[in-house]
Amino acid sequence: MTKRWVQDHRRDSWRRQAKEEGYRARSAWKLKQIQDRFEVIRKHDVVLDVGCHPGGWAQVAVECSGERGEVVGIDLMPCQPVEGALLLVGDITDSGTQARVRREFDEDNKRPINAVVSDISPDITGNWDIDQAVSIDLVAKVFDFSLPLLAAGGSFVTKIFQGVGVDELIQVVKPHFTKVRRFSPDASRNSSSEVYLICLNHRPWKAPKGRILARWEEAVTERIASQTEVAPETESVKKMGRILRRKQEEE
Ligand SMILES: C[S@@+](CC[C@H](N)C(=O)[O-])C[C@H]1O[C@@H](n2cnc3c(N)ncnc32)[C@H](O)[C@@H]1O
Repeated sequence: MTKRWVQDHRRDSWRRQAKEEGYRARSAWKLKQIQDRFEVIRKHDVVLDVGCHPGGWAQVAVECSGERGEVVGIDLMPCQPVEGALLLVGDITDSGTQARVRREFDEDNKRPINAVVSDISPDITGNWDIDQAVSIDLVAKVFDFSLPLLAAGGSFVTKIFQGVGVDELIQVVKPHFTKVRRFSPDASRNSSSEVYLICLNHRPWKAPKGRILARWEEAVTERIASQTEVAPETESVKKMGRILRRKQEEE
């Protein structure tokens, strides 16, 4: 009861501070704290904000990139306008939406993206295994879509839910960046098992062949195979095995 009260109180306090400073959502503080620590967005940067509704991160991205920066957001839900940002509606995993977003960067002004900030989160069903597996699958798809658009030296931030498959995801994205680390901003601490993956200094020339999603699935399958050969399956590996098999059956 006491722990719950402390968590609620902390969340309320970030919400209050966000409101006082004119941000739409408590989540704005998470990006501000990531920015303070890692400076993922620089002045004049071109930024892609994935899962941008209601617009808190877009507000922070506009502030950080300044007047000569550019911010494009995308979400399933429409947002109230944010001055200085273009906020589109669509599913980032859908090829039509991807073409629309790509057009904003590729064709219209030919500027590569300097920072991808993704706070994407699926509809939470309450079934932790499913929610975590769906979230990691979404994150891998966001990597696959946006890495080809990300400039050398660029940064990539994404929310992930701690759990099975995260180590494999980190292993798979590591070669693409100089530094990849997990970070838990104060504004999200205690609230859930969410954590942010901070990937700095994109180095496209080091990118291994193959899509992130396929390589991640391979890495998880390998882990399951190796662990079942040498040791009794742990509960978490069994869980991921079940999720992967279900996913393969659906496809
Ligand atoms: C935690 S909210 C983002 C909050 C936002 N960063 C802010 O500060 O206002 C997560 C968002 O991800 C969006 N989302 C989930 N799946 C998506 C998808 N496939 N394509 C685009 N957006 C998606 C949801 O609609 C939701 O608005």
